[in-house]
Amino acid sequence: MTPSDVKATLSFSDGSPSMELPIYKGTIGPDVIDIRKLYGQTGKFTYDPGFLSTASCNSSITYIDGDKGELLYRGYPIEQLAVNCDYLETCYLLLNGELPNATQKADFQASVTNHTMVNEQMQFFLRGFRRDAHPMAVMTGLVGALSAFYHDSTDINNPEHREIAAIRLIAKMPTLVAMAYKYTVGQPYIYPKNDLSYAGNFLRMMFATPCEEYKVSPVIERALDRIFILHADHEQNASTSTVRLCGSSGTNPFAAIAAGVACLWGPAHGGANEACLNMLEDIQAMGGVAKVGEFMNQVKDKNSGVRLMGFGHRVYKNYDPRAKLMQETCKEVLQELGLENDPLFKLAMALEKIALEDDYFVARKLYPNVDFYSGIVQRAIGIPVPLFTAIFALARTVGWIAQLNEMIADPEYKIGRPRQLFVGSAKRDVKPLAQR
Ligand code: CMC
Repeated sequence: MTPSDVKATLSFSDGSPSMELPIYKGTIGPDVIDIRKLYGQTGKFTYDPGFLSTASCNSSITYIDGDKGELLYRGYPIEQLAVNCDYLETCYLLLNGELPNATQKADFQASVTNHTMVNEQMQFFLRGFRRDAHPMAVMTGLVGALSAFYHDSTDINNPEHREIAAIRLIAKMPTLVAMAYKYTVGQPYIYPKNDLSYAGNFLRMMFATPCEEYKVSPVIERALDRIFILHADHEQNASTSTVRLCGSSGTNPFAAIAAGVACLWGPAHGGANEACLNMLEDIQAMGGVAKVGEFMNQVKDKNSGVRLMGFGHRVYKNYDPRAKLMQETCKEVLQELGLENDPLFKLAMALEKIALEDDYFVARKLYPNVDFYSGIVQRAIGIPVPLFTAIFALARTVGWIAQLNEMIADPEYKIGRPRQLFVGSAKRDVKPLAQR
């Protein structure tokens, strides 16, 4: 953090002494006012529910310019990474700060590949779940359970443990997601096959059966790899902040990532892709494109509680760059599968067109986010709707672990402990039961 020459002065209208606050500059993005000494010097806290104006940490991993609609991983624009790199190169970049050279790439790929199997005992653990359980309920349990299987990488203060836990998590997430799926449909688990790519291996574990060979389609493989790249990190969002807060107590990495999975599940966050597809299917059932106007009126009516899922973002006040790339992938996949006339895709395009021209959305700077098209792609690939968020969790695991490791390695890191503005009863006495 670079100190700025400018200082902020906080003054009070009741004559209490004013306070000078240091300001720090980042590489890009808004400066921050350092309020760490505020309570010590004034006895006051700041109030910022939802962290609308609060930087909870400093980080050098991911940068978003919400007004421009720009997303950078370690300085590289997402558009360039999506076209020139694969997911494992992106993972290496997020974890290590630089893109790998050919040897580093091969070594990293080999370490991830060597850890794709999960302890055989995991399948007995999985058997304890109902077969109709939501995959995110299952994933929260499975990821948390990894800490019961890999005791030799649970010391968050040991850099080697952190490194091996990172590799294990990246390697095993596809295996776990595919196992959760196979369990739901009652098919045998398919073991990883290490001569396939990361995305190709996942597709095979999902869709192969022991009865016949499964051939990975290069177009689908590339599409899935792109979904993984686009979801790999997104700076201090709700699930990443959850992972940081959870990990700040010194808990093991598997437990911290399980907390991230649980947070991601919500429909305002990772669950939006599932909610978005369900919304498109509901509109389709109501009458499709002809009913878009009626649906939009409900969205704009504050009393209806209906939101246009896959639209709007806390940080992006412009088109989400991931949504553009996802729309491109969506077209490619539908063409490959001969689904160019997919009614849900047509419906999504119609909704997007109306929303981008409508005053309600324009005034609030609401644009499509990554989830608007990712559900259509995943559904076309054959991934069941309830599994969408689990795929997001798989892809985001690298971001969570990179952010967690960055926090632990930061000498200034402390356990996260927010304060509150207490508005409940002041101290009072308990009355005996008969007098209450
Ligand atoms: N449909 C209709 N109105 C909306 C929407 C929407 N999708 N999103 C925001 N608004 C309105 C909202 O009602 C409010 O209006 P007003 O100022 O009149 O009260 C205004 O826009 C600002 O909304 P907000 O809820 O204060 O914004 P936020 O920054 O707290 O919420 C959000 C961001 C993503 C939770 C929200 O836009 C939303 O619920 N979107 C739909 C869910 C979704 O697609 N989530 C995926 C996010 S991207 C993937 C990820 O990062 O996890």
